[in-house]
Amino acid sequence: MRENPDYNDLYYQNTTTYSQIIDIVTKRVVPLSELAAPIDWVAFFGNAYPVEIEIGFGKGRFLLEASKRHPRVNYIGVERARKYVELTRERFEKHIRHFGVDRASGTFSNVRLAWTDANYFVTRYVPSSSVQAYHIYFPDPWPKKRQRKRRIFRNQDFLAALTATLKSDGGRLYIATDYKAYFAEIQERLSQVNPLRLVADNLGPDRDIATNFEMKYTLEGREIYRAIYERF
Ligand SMILES: C[S@@+](CC[C@H](N)C(=O)[O-])C[C@H]1O[C@@H](n2cnc3c(N)ncnc32)[C@H](O)[C@@H]1O
Repeated sequence: MRENPDYNDLYYQNTTTYSQIIDIVTKRVVPLSELAAPIDWVAFFGNAYPVEIEIGFGKGRFLLEASKRHPRVNYIGVERARKYVELTRERFEKHIRHFGVDRASGTFSNVRLAWTDANYFVTRYVPSSSVQAYHIYFPDPWPKKRQRKRRIFRNQDFLAALTATLKSDGGRLYIATDYKAYFAEIQERLSQVNPLRLVADNLGPDRDIATNFEMKYTLEGREIYRAIYERF
């Protein structure tokens, strides 16, 4: 795999040393390196439900709500910051302590936390044409000029892998940001990615679930920019 010269990210370089996947219900933690790549989703989840991946889940609000409300969708949350992985895991565990695991739906047996770099995960572990939806909400905007090369949407290998791993018959990429200039850049870059097309912009949050950043920015009265792309 060609390394992207504009993406000299320390996290990515260190990724292999810590990457792991956490099953919240069984508490099993598996180093990513022990999984055969690409991951066979049916064997991994034990069912053939569609797979959705949230990249950079932060404090995990979307992941928790979406996986709870949609037990017949498998969710993988990818986050590289250890403190957010731990915080989100605690959040799920707290929810289970308070509300238990619903036997019928097996609450949260459909979700895994992947502590790793999204580019590393998507390019190596996600099979082609296998993902029903990616959710990328409030990606770090890296506003300083010298840091902009870190923007995840600037990484061509990542964009190519995102597209190739979406289901070819309508797999979707959901995006939200409060950063207007970055939103324009994302739209510009994605307009050049084939086979991906813009299907909607400026709707409400997907499934009506706001992320932590969305809640905070909405309270502050900031405008939120959103788009949905679809692989065709
Ligand atoms: C601005 S926060 C948004 C968090 C959450 N999506 C929300 O809306 O509340 C961006 C998150 O993406 C994570 N992140 C950034 N780049 C990443 C990457 N390459 N792989 C995995 N996570 C990443 C950061 O650690 C951070 O938690």
